[in-house]
Amino acid sequence: MMLAAHSVSASFADAGGVAIQALQDVSASFAPGQLTAVVGPSGSGKTTLLHALAGIVVPQQGRILFGEVELNRLSEGRRDAWRLAHCGMVFQDFRLIDELDALANVLLPAQFSRLHLPTTLRQRGMELLARFELPQRAGPVARLSRGEQQRVALARALLLDPPILLADEPTASLDADNGQRIAAALQDIARQGKTVVTVTHDERLSARADQVLTMKSGRVLS
Ligand SMILES: Nc1ncnc2c1ncn2[C@@H]1O[C@H](COP(=O)(O)OP(=O)(O)OP(=O)(O)O)[C@@H](O)[C@H]1O
Ligand SMILES: [Mg+2]
Repeated sequence: MMLAAHSVSASFADAGGVAIQALQDVSASFAPGQLTAVVGPSGSGKTTLLHALAGIVVPQQGRILFGEVELNRLSEGRRDAWRLAHCGMVFQDFRLIDELDALANVLLPAQFSRLHLPTTLRQRGMELLARFELPQRAGPVARLSRGEQQRVALARALLLDPPILLADEPTASLDADNGQRIAAALQDIARQGKTVVTVTHDERLSARADQVLTMKSGRVLS
């Protein structure tokens, strides 16, 4: 199913109540099987676009569509349920639970929807950690390096095998080798038919994209 933004505008009020226009009349389509890179300077609206596609930010104008579902018309509860079922998210600031270990963090999305965790999901969680070469070590993720935390965040996003992956600068904290590996993994995931949208400043990643959206001052230039 196609994910699309139609003439989306979103603004935030700053501390003084003045509106900051984060997205201005943004239209873009994201097809299954396609890797999209969103690039542009700091403050240009990249994260806001990703959050709008996930139903975290609700635009004041325009529509976010996934197939027939018009996200911006759903209640917050329904958007949360939709996101859990359809979106894997890698946040720019990871949003891991510091006190939990890597596996517990990866398994978090499953805990929201199930009382008892099937062993197959636990197995998948461990496989994802191994795939991204993370140590199966106990202990809080707060003690892991930033690069390790970033890969835990990606493993968590993939746990439920979502049709949409939204990743905000997922290689920003990685060394050259790991960056290449994660860029290749994101491309693979797209090749498997998923819709992958990634914000990035990383040439290794944008070079693999099928579509590059360049943002400036809340608008998509190309
Ligand atoms: N929750 C918020 N409240 C107020 N202003 C916000 C909020 N989120 C974003 N903004 C503002 O909207 C604009 C776009 O922010 P956004 O985070 O989307 O930029 P970005 O392109 O992701 O930047 P970066 O590369 O630094 O992550 C900025 O001016 C930012 O200050
Ligand atoms: Mg950002």
